[in-house]
Amino acid sequence: MAQGRSKATPVLLSAAMLAAIVFWFGAAVPYFTTHRESFGRVPELFWERRVPQWIHIAGGTAAMFLGPVQIWLGETRRRLALHRTLGFAYLGGVAVTCGSGFYMSLTTPVGFVYASGLFGMALACAVCTLMAYVAIVRRNFAQHREWMIRSYVVIVAFVFFRLIVVGLEAAAVGGSGPQGDAMRASLAAWASWAFPLLATEVALQMPKLCR
Ligand code: HEM
Repeated sequence: MAQGRSKATPVLLSAAMLAAIVFWFGAAVPYFTTHRESFGRVPELFWERRVPQWIHIAGGTAAMFLGPVQIWLGETRRRLALHRTLGFAYLGGVAVTCGSGFYMSLTTPVGFVYASGLFGMALACAVCTLMAYVAIVRRNFAQHREWMIRSYVVIVAFVFFRLIVVGLEAAAVGGSGPQGDAMRASLAAWASWAFPLLATEVALQMPKLCR
């Protein structure tokens, strides 16, 4: 049986899928328009970069929805031919998300801390996914599993991003106005992937320490 699989796996994957669906309707669908005035939450931030933004959302959507299916097929050792095919689709989705993510982070007007956090997110996602690919090419299943989980945790960072921004706003942290918005977004640009990756590492390594 797949190494490290636990009873919590289906619960965690269902929660990830549910969060992905909610996020997708709330944050991605508002960009499905060709009207400037209704283009997302802050049209002036994205309208000029709408083509890379559409490409980014297409890649992100594919990776976000394929990830839980892939992890489930891998954990249960089911439909391995399908797992392989969807794996290449996931790789394509991640390549598009990260490629456009690098571009968007280098062109955002929001500020250096925000841009560097998102650049770091794209780098972390690209490295984790590449490591997962190298591991499977070398038939190292345990490493492939771990790097795929890390890769997906970074892909869903944008869900955490939203949760952090909304949470800080509700707690009135960071001040008001555009400066407060930029402060909260900058914190979330780093915290939304760094802390989940740290928690994931603890969850992945703890069973090895305690056995
Ligand atoms: C490695 C993972 C990801 C990285 C590095 C990344 C990076 C970025 C960057 C740099 C921006 C532009 C920020 C700006 O210019 O101010 C952005 C915006 C956005 N991304 Fe991603 N992204 C990732 C995953 C995803 C996923 C999985 C989706 C799902 C569809 C997604 C959907 C969006 C949306 C909707 C926005 C607009 C911002 C908003 O309204 O909150 N991203 N992303």
